[in-house]
Amino acid sequence: MPKHETPLMDDLEKGPWPSFVSDLKRQAEKNPQCWDIIGQMELSFKDRMTHWKHGGIVGVFGYGGGIVGRYSDVPEQFPGVAHFHTVRLNQPSSKFYRTDLLRKMCDLWEKRGSGMTNLHGSTGDLILLGTRTEELEPLFYDLTHDLEWDLGGSGSNLRTPECCIGKARCEWSCYDTQATCHGMTMKYQDEIHRPAFPYKFKFKFSGCPNDCVAAIARSDLSAIGTWRDNIRINQDEVKKYISGENVPNGGGIPAKAKKFDIQKEVIDLCPTGCMWMEGDALKIDDAECTRCMHCLNVMPKALRPGVDQGASVMMGAKAPILDGAQLGTLVVPFIKMDPDNEFEELVDVIEKCWDYWMEHGKNRERLGETIQRIGLPTFLRVMEIEPIPQHVKEPRSNPYVFWREEEVEGGWQRDVKEFRKKHAQ
Ligand code: HEM
Ligand code: HEM
Ligand code: SF4
Ligand code: SF4
Repeated sequence: MPKHETPLMDDLEKGPWPSFVSDLKRQAEKNPQCWDIIGQMELSFKDRMTHWKHGGIVGVFGYGGGIVGRYSDVPEQFPGVAHFHTVRLNQPSSKFYRTDLLRKMCDLWEKRGSGMTNLHGSTGDLILLGTRTEELEPLFYDLTHDLEWDLGGSGSNLRTPECCIGKARCEWSCYDTQATCHGMTMKYQDEIHRPAFPYKFKFKFSGCPNDCVAAIARSDLSAIGTWRDNIRINQDEVKKYISGENVPNGGGIPAKAKKFDIQKEVIDLCPTGCMWMEGDALKIDDAECTRCMHCLNVMPKALRPGVDQGASVMMGAKAPILDGAQLGTLVVPFIKMDPDNEFEELVDVIEKCWDYWMEHGKNRERLGETIQRIGLPTFLRVMEIEPIPQHVKEPRSNPYVFWREEEVEGGWQRDVKEFRKKHAQ
């Protein structure tokens, strides 16, 4: 039986879509504290303000991350949500779960928390919604000992790494995103669980420029798969697309499948205009190709990424509420992603930027903001990377690049009169 009158919340059950309010009510029959969530939300709607007190850190023994503290500011009215902490569980790479483990996790959460979950939060983790402070240690013990499952990251630390489905199921993947994600999760346990950074830091690993985990928009450091050599072309399959024997876009866009026009659907849509037909052969000027994936997506049987594969590393994306989203900036154009050397090149990039950011980043300043503050040219110097045209974020935003003394022959001590003589010619 409902504990509160909630006409405004009830209204949200009326649409044609599944309603989270109905879900909450169903769960509340088993776990009455959920009535208080609905009750408190109703009050928030009436008062036009939230009744959640913002957090504070709640930890478990040895860990600073993983649990996001939440308390009600009207606990007398809604004792069920007086504490309502949210627990992040480290999801497996590409979110491949064992069902027996999911069942055990649900049972544990019915016992220790509200029973409500959220798959998946914006960091990628599996989220357990709502429990009391005194439940946290027992939950953590059972989770790590019985289920052998770890908490994710929260707070000023490394957040739970995330990756696309990668080589497990996707033929476009230019490196093993799952191995990388798992490898970095294991290597940086300390950084995930004991906040020591100026602010949060996220890795995301996408196997190709389709970027299925939106790495470029959501992470301080994203490794997006790419290739250095040429797109592999199977001209026989190209002909089959032209003749209609092959269905474009893997059949995903039925309207386009009927009358495929390679000129209109592929060549004219290539952003750099680097494709053309010579007779019935498709040609690509790979030096101009930006690896946008468009042509490969339309004709997957005919076109494949090159064989010299690795990743580009972007840095500095974030999506804060107050001052708007910022995409990652290309910093490292190409590195090899090699599990045999434990991703040495990636680790080198990660640690070079951490060393600088941990020393010079201001409190609650994301890496992207640090880069903005010091400028990309300075950041490239920190990363020991030679600037290339691809490092220009947008033309003309900063045409002035200053030479340093050691880069100029003769330094600042040159003879100005000599220089002026030349200039006057
Ligand atoms: C009707 C008059 C004008 C027109 C149609 C005009 C048009 C343009 C255009 C199209 C650009 C290039 C913008 C871009 O590609 O980003 C430009 C840039 C520029 N204009 Fe004008 N302009 C006019 C008057 C002036 C005047 C009177 C001055 C200075 C006395 C001036 C100084 C500049 C400068 C310095 C830039 C370079 C900005 C940059 O790219 O860094 N313009 N103008
Ligand atoms: C020392 C003097 C000057 C400096 C340092 C300077 C610098 C620049 C720079 C950096 C640009 C952008 C180039 C680019 O497209 O990347 C530019 C463009 C331009 N400048 Fe100058 N400029 C100077 C003198 C002038 C003068 C005297 C005029 C006109 C009376 C002028 C008119 C323009 C125009 C119209 C453009 C736009 C060209 C375009 O983007 O289509 N500039 N200038
Ligand atoms: S990002 Fe690329 S490799 Fe990864 S799942 Fe998406 S299409 Fe496949
Ligand atoms: S990947 Fe994009 S830029 Fe490269 S050839 Fe294909 S459509 Fe053009």
